[in-house]
Amino acid sequence: DAADVPALRDLAERLATSAGALIREQRPDTVVVAGTKSSDVDPVTAMDRASEELLRALIAAERPDDAILGEEGDDLPGTSGLTWVLDPIDGTVNYLYGIASYAVSVAVVAGPPVPGEWTVLAGCVHSVVDGRTWTAGLGLGATRDGVPVRVGSPASLATSLVGTGFGYDAGRRAHQARVLTTVLPLVRDIRRLGAAAIDLCLVAEGTLDVFYERGLNPWDLAAGELIASEAGAVVTGLRGRPAGGEMAVVGPGHVVAPLVAVLEEAGADGDS
Ligand code: IPD
Repeated sequence: DAADVPALRDLAERLATSAGALIREQRPDTVVVAGTKSSDVDPVTAMDRASEELLRALIAAERPDDAILGEEGDDLPGTSGLTWVLDPIDGTVNYLYGIASYAVSVAVVAGPPVPGEWTVLAGCVHSVVDGRTWTAGLGLGATRDGVPVRVGSPASLATSLVGTGFGYDAGRRAHQARVLTTVLPLVRDIRRLGAAAIDLCLVAEGTLDVFYERGLNPWDLAAGELIASEAGAVVTGLRGRPAGGEMAVVGPGHVVAPLVAVLEEAGADGDS
């Protein structure tokens, strides 16, 4: 069966905004770390888990045959060929500190739930604190709060505002810092806002000119990748490879091309 992309898009938006309402309404006065994941500086909170549980329950009720890949739970197999890719709170460190940039990211993909191999059919990124909601369906364009968005048109890389992010591993961060010393003198400025899914949506609407990051997880990328590409962005990795955990570079083609060259030269797809 051909997937009903408009219906999947609408469901992705309902899921993301429902989880966002939970996170907004039940934010405790003091957020505490419930555990750590990949390293001691990679936190998880009770709300990451509660948000994902809500998303999973809603999907089970509406689309019981679909698979689920979520940041905080076990992979759930399915039979439909579609997988929901969930980040219940992207920007957990911002959530922890009360910095207003964190989001729920929900996407549905066909094919293997692997960046570069998947086809993202629909996605939604819902910024929890201010309610900004970016949504896209494959071939249907991308919107923010219902209004179509389009990537910016910076004159050059030298005048581009560049978003990036860092992993949680100390060794990887040391190399990411070296890469940054190469990139920073070549651009207008750098922003590290702390939620990759939002960064990708900011590129989609031209608020950031371009974004790159090594080490993104599938759930950081899936919805934002579609929203950016439907808004006219190129989404790529380095050395002719697709965007994924190795590297993702996202923005207007004429800025992505020189940035890719700089990142390749700096070995930004490696850790040393
Ligand atoms: C993180 C954020 C951050 C990015 C990291 C991600 P999380 O997601 O998107 O901006 O730099 O690579 O892991 O852990 O807050 O869901």
